Amino acid sequence: MNAGIRAVVRTGLYYGLEVFGVMRGYSGMIEDDIYQMNSRSVANIIQRGGTILKTARSKEFYSPEGRQKAYENLKKRGINGIVVIGGDGSFTGAYKLSKEYGIPCVGLPGTIDKDLYGTDLTIGFDTAANTAVQAIDKIRDTAESHDRLFIVEVMGRHAGYIALHSGIATGAENILMPEVNTTLDEMVATLSEQEKRKKLVNLVIVAEGYMPDPSRPHLKGATEITKMIEEKLKGLEIRVTILGHIQRGGPPSCMDRFIASRMGYHAVECLLEGRHDVMVGILHNNMHYTPLEIAIREKQKIGEDWMHIVKILAS
Ligand code: F6P
Repeated sequence: MNAGIRAVVRTGLYYGLEVFGVMRGYSGMIEDDIYQMNSRSVANIIQRGGTILKTARSKEFYSPEGRQKAYENLKKRGINGIVVIGGDGSFTGAYKLSKEYGIPCVGLPGTIDKDLYGTDLTIGFDTAANTAVQAIDKIRDTAESHDRLFIVEVMGRHAGYIALHSGIATGAENILMPEVNTTLDEMVATLSEQEKRKKLVNLVIVAEGYMPDPSRPHLKGATEITKMIEEKLKGLEIRVTILGHIQRGGPPSCMDRFIASRMGYHAVECLLEGRHDVMVGILHNNMHYTPLEIAIREKQKIGEDWMHIVKILAS
């Protein structure tokens, strides 16, 4: 995200605009925590994880009164265009502000979950997936030395992209994702088969949003799934790792810095050209602009055919 902020600030200044940073998203907009930025404000940040502007979830912004306060704070500084980095929640807020108060906005897709429609890549995904890969590679060493089954949970909220990418990149034997309807019985069957063939190293990557039985939504996550597998396959030695928030931090990858810089530049161009209320994405390596209403409503989905690839490659 810092690479995106840097690109927006420097492109805005290049075109002679005044650029302001809003701290903690809509909370800062309401609380008037807004400051003018110059080129030096974004020096030495491109390599840093997180965001120098910080982030927060603002309940107050859901209310018309909250948005009115935010608008007043923007108006008194003459702010007449907004770039928002985030996902569908952030875009919904920006879209409302634009419709209610006529302040155009442009969204940059910032989420490690990569589930936003209209872009092949989202800012943060590549770094998160690479962090997961590095961790899983290390886990594989123990899995192999001890002939154990490891179940590794990765983030993604309701999406399985981190699981899919990190699972394929680490040669995982099974990948469980919310988008693909794999039952535990199916998975256990592959494990038993592999055991018969003396393929004893098994890595199962579970997306945090995967539910083996959607009618029992509380049974999700690696810990619950492990209990269920243990009941079905007695005597198997299983270890669980939940990677958690390490996936959200650390120095961003080259790809993330690159796409965030590119998207940030184009966000400012959009505002200047009057291309308003869109999300700036990259599709097939070209810039792609999705109306915010669509970016909010639609999700990028994983096709079932991926499971076929996973199965062949892990055989
Ligand atoms: O949406 C990004 C994400 O990291 C998800 O993958 C994860 O479920 C969630 O945010 C974690 O949120 P929090 O940091 O609030 O626990």
